[in-house]
Formats: sequence, structure tokens, C-alpha cells
Amino acid sequence: MSLKIRVVTHNPGKVREYQSSLGGYGLEMEHINREYDEVQTDHLEEVVDKGMKQLHAEGLRDFMIDDSGLFVNAFGGFPGVYSAYVQKTVGNPGVLKLMNGIEDRSATFRCCIGTWIGNERIIVTGVCPGEILHEARGTGGFGYDPIFSPDGKRSFAEIPTEDKNAISHRGAAVRMLADELRKRGIIN
Ligand code: IMP
Repeated sequence: MSLKIRVVTHNPGKVREYQSSLGGYGLEMEHINREYDEVQTDHLEEVVDKGMKQLHAEGLRDFMIDDSGLFVNAFGGFPGVYSAYVQKTVGNPGVLKLMNGIEDRSATFRCCIGTWIGNERIIVTGVCPGEILHEARGTGGFGYDPIFSPDGKRSFAEIPTEDKNAISHRGAAVRMLADELRKRGIIN
């Protein structure tokens, strides 16, 4: 029988990526659209740690959460933990405008995943270095995908989900998570 993990997020794009990546390890994903508090901190890991404890205290079991962010070097890592707020307010056009005239376009995506399965709590973080493009490109993906490129050529929004998973911050985090789950005998 396959193990079902509840993916707690408002973001269907993340669920699609998890279905495509973790599905390959024989895990079944169930999307749970549910709130948890996101503490004000500089660290994705702390947001995930507190969120997991809250959801577990509320009775949720066998679940995972994901806190991600885009860290732009020229802005000292901003928007980082504020990525959701910046995406909601100024969006990709606003970020492109802020980057106008800035030579260093390097940025890193970070994805922190927390899972609590049975008594096992695991927190892993994957990263993907790349750059902010000069204009939005592509229609796939979500969030900052159209303006972020891992190789300076294609944006994340121009490549299929499986290809994004092979190189992305979330894909890297999933591979680390799979190693940890394997060590604990939760997957083969
Ligand atoms: P959160 O993890 O849901 O708080 O995401 C923070 C912000 O980063 C949101 O605006 C997401 O849309 C965006 N984001 C998270 N992961 C990705 C990604 O893989 N690609 C593009 N944007 C992302």
C-alpha cells in the first residue's frame, strides 16, 4: 500500500511539482488547502519548523509543508522570506523594474521542505542558483518562474515540470528528502 502525504499549501503549482517528483518514489500526494502561521524571520527553516509544530498540534498527521523564496544578490537577498508578499504586491513586472540598470542579476531560489510522517520529522533545503532575466518569458510554472533562469537562457516557465524538477531548488530538496525517507525505511 502506498503512503499518502498531505501537502499543505495554497499553491497548486507546488502540488503539481510534488506529484511529478515524489510520485516517482511511490508516494501519494493529497492537497490540503489550509492555513498555518508564518513567523517573521530571516530563515525559511524557522517558518517551516514553527508551521509543522502548529499543524501537528492541531492534529494533522503525515504531512508536508514548503516555504520557498527568491534571494536576489544585488538586493542583499531580498525578497527572500518576503517573496510571497512581493509577488502579490508588485509581481514580476515590479521586480524587473527594480532590477533596471542593475548589472549583477544573480539570484538563488531556495526551497525548504518539512515533513512529519509517523514520528519522523525531516527538514531539508534545496537551492538553485541562476539569474533574473531582462523580461518575462514562458507560460508554464508559477510565481517568479517567467523571470528566473537557471542557465541564463530559458526561464523556468519555458520548461516542462519534469525538467524543472531535475534542476530546481524544489527538485533538489525532494532528492534530499527521499534520501532521508529511505534511511528511515519510509520508502524503498
Ligand atoms: P511560499 O513558499 O508559498 O511562501 O512562496 C513564496 C513566493 O515565491 C510565492 O510568491 C511563490 O509563488 C514563489 N515561489 C515559490 N516557489 C517558486 C518556484 O519554484 N518558482 C517560482 N516562484 C516560486
